[in-house]
Amino acid sequence: MQRRDFIRNAAVAGAGLLIAPQGIFGADAPSNKLNLALLGVGGRGKAHFDSIGAHNVAALCDVRESALAQGAQRFPQARTYLDWRKLLDDHKKLGLDAVVCCTADHHHALIANGCINRDLHCYMEKPLAITVEEARSVRANWLAKKTKLATQVGMQRHALANFNRVREKILDGAIGELKSASAWGNRKLPRAGYWPAAGEPPKGFHWDLWLGPAPDHPYSPEYFSYTGTPRGNCTLWNMFWDFGVGQVGDMGSHTMDLLWNGVDAKLPASAEAKGEKFNPDVTPVECAMHFEHPANTWRGPISVAWYQGGLLPKSPRNFIDLEKIDHGVMFKGSQGFLIASFENHLVLPYGKEADLTYYKPRPKEKLLPPVGHFQEQWLAACKNPSLKTACDFEYSSEMIEQMLLGLVAYRVGKKLNYDGTTGKVTNHAAANALLGRNYRAGWPLNG
Ligand SMILES: NC(=O)c1ccc[n+]([C@@H]2O[C@H](COP(=O)([O-])OP(=O)(O)OC[C@H]3O[C@@H](n4cnc5c(N)ncnc54)[C@H](O)[C@@H]3O)[C@@H](O)[C@H]2O)c1
Repeated sequence: MQRRDFIRNAAVAGAGLLIAPQGIFGADAPSNKLNLALLGVGGRGKAHFDSIGAHNVAALCDVRESALAQGAQRFPQARTYLDWRKLLDDHKKLGLDAVVCCTADHHHALIANGCINRDLHCYMEKPLAITVEEARSVRANWLAKKTKLATQVGMQRHALANFNRVREKILDGAIGELKSASAWGNRKLPRAGYWPAAGEPPKGFHWDLWLGPAPDHPYSPEYFSYTGTPRGNCTLWNMFWDFGVGQVGDMGSHTMDLLWNGVDAKLPASAEAKGEKFNPDVTPVECAMHFEHPANTWRGPISVAWYQGGLLPKSPRNFIDLEKIDHGVMFKGSQGFLIASFENHLVLPYGKEADLTYYKPRPKEKLLPPVGHFQEQWLAACKNPSLKTACDFEYSSEMIEQMLLGLVAYRVGKKLNYDGTTGKVTNHAAANALLGRNYRAGWPLNG
């Protein structure tokens, strides 16, 4: 039996483990730990140190030698790599079970596919993908292996109790029949264009590997907080088309998750978007997207919207100032509105009577189970992939595919009809050319 099969069988045996003598099969026993790799150590990667630290961190990868040196202080046993492709090539030698990825966004889908294609569990920081084609490719690969691989996208706010409470209220009819849902985020990070060349990368910073699949760009320290620019991390590079998708992928991943969790949507039948003038270098600050979603088993068709850069849905009452909710969601039903931030929500029933007699809150014992610790939910599923994770690559890829299609609609300035089965726009040939992107030689999407 291979080591990883042993871990899986041991996890499935469950209760049997608990009565085994401690030190042989206990939670800390070497046989019960996963062999993990962390890609992208220096920024968000640090937030994962504690949860992966309970396992064996066998390999670290960063394009900056200084970040690798910092990671090696915490995980001295780990082999270090500058190029994630080499690390994945060595996965058997390293005995890897799973990968946590916190690199720049334009590597995400390639790494997710690289993991799935090598039968490695994968925790991918958001956004899972930066094109429609990428989202679909990762989903197709994972669906073929979902019974044996655990996946999670880093939308960790999903573990907040409010996510369950909002979903319960929508499902239980607190606002009647669901008609529409809107999410918004007000972060504004305008840029004129890619930064002009400004000196050489610092020693030990492998800029060419950072660019990876992206077209060549001159180096500038403006892209990075660790080269002297004030703190900003991913918000210094993720608005440039070749490196990210701006607020759609950044806070949009988190906020659309709060909406998506309440509506059980799949892929939209159409997308329409308006925003500031298109800039070929930089994703828009101001943009509003509208999608039509077909009915599902518990509701009729709904419209879904995303607003960013200060744009907002219309508030249902002038005493509710949506601007005060930086990242929020509003659901509209046949009986009223539900407005939510990540942590709280309020129900606003229609009419003067507003007696809520149409709605019966569920009893305590029927409340949705808490997600628990978000990263650990995935780690547990790596040992026993029959356990569901909250933001697996199916849920997360469909959510981001919708938003990425919205960016294509913004670029062409037309309402697009979309066939989610084939992944094709059916009424605008040129839009189909924008569903994917080109990759530099040596960086295939599905390697
Ligand atoms: N879930 C969250 O709340 C959350 C919060 C912050 C960032 N993030 C995500 O984490 C990712 C990283 O963001 P950040 O703010 O840490 O960015 P960052 O630029 O500050 O740090 C990224 C780190 O990864 C390294 N890196 C980048 N590309 C790499 C590659 N191809 N191979 C190996 N190492 C690479 C960098 O050298 C750096 O050490 C982004 O995708 C971002 O969206 C998620």
